[in-house]
Amino acid sequence: MNILGIDVGGSGIKGAPVDLTLGDFAEARVRIPTPAKSSPKNVAAVVAEIIENFKEQIPAGSRIGLTVPAPVVHGRVPFMANLHKSWAGFEAATFFEDRLGRPVTLVNDADAAGLAEVHYGAAKGNDGLVIMTTLGTGIGSAIIHRGVLVPNAELGHVELDGFDAETRAASSIKEKEKLSYKEWAVRLQRYYSHIEMLFSPDLFVVGGGVSKDSEKFLPLLQLRTPIVPAKMRNRAGIIGAALAAQDANLHPDSSQAG
Ligand code: BGC
Repeated sequence: MNILGIDVGGSGIKGAPVDLTLGDFAEARVRIPTPAKSSPKNVAAVVAEIIENFKEQIPAGSRIGLTVPAPVVHGRVPFMANLHKSWAGFEAATFFEDRLGRPVTLVNDADAAGLAEVHYGAAKGNDGLVIMTTLGTGIGSAIIHRGVLVPNAELGHVELDGFDAETRAASSIKEKEKLSYKEWAVRLQRYYSHIEMLFSPDLFVVGGGVSKDSEKFLPLLQLRTPIVPAKMRNRAGIIGAALAAQDANLHPDSSQAG
């Protein structure tokens, strides 16, 4: 059975039915721009449109997986860095389930990407400690140990040299400050060395749109830990959302959506 995965980002909301046996989309994905006012209500309207688009391909009333760019603690979003502030403290899972009339598994976007990379991508088969980071509007992170996700790590918000790390090293900042790859790599070096010191991981996986140009910046970094680009690219969030939904179907008691 295919599961609909939907990835909510700062600029686009993207969804596709996922074939989890293949670890790939079962149909071409749909992308709708994120509403300028990215409140839960406006995001839910776009999510409803994506569900409607795939109503022939996914069973009526089936659980969907939905990422958000924020931690999700038992269905609640404690804070929101890069979407509308009305998400903060919001009981998002209950709201989406009521609005969409079906079970919804909410999952942090980087956690979803990490799950996808561990199941099908750059960290497949790694039996140690993997840290996935996504470089985009912010910095997302996922900690996965022996294939098991430790949810809601917010390593993009570690304080480094008096700054919230993502406000110095995210790829959006590279764009904003017109940094060259070399200049940006200095900030990435500071960031990844710090995370390496804190966690001693076995592998770093780097995702986010900019990871397609990884050969321009990853070779500039000097770390003890192997650091590799993500393989799932822009499919990771959607596929990871579907994986999280499948997990909630299999283990209803541990579902974060409750
Ligand atoms: C959020 C994270 C998210 C990341 C990437 C950060 O600002 O706090 O939850 O994973 O951005 O979207």
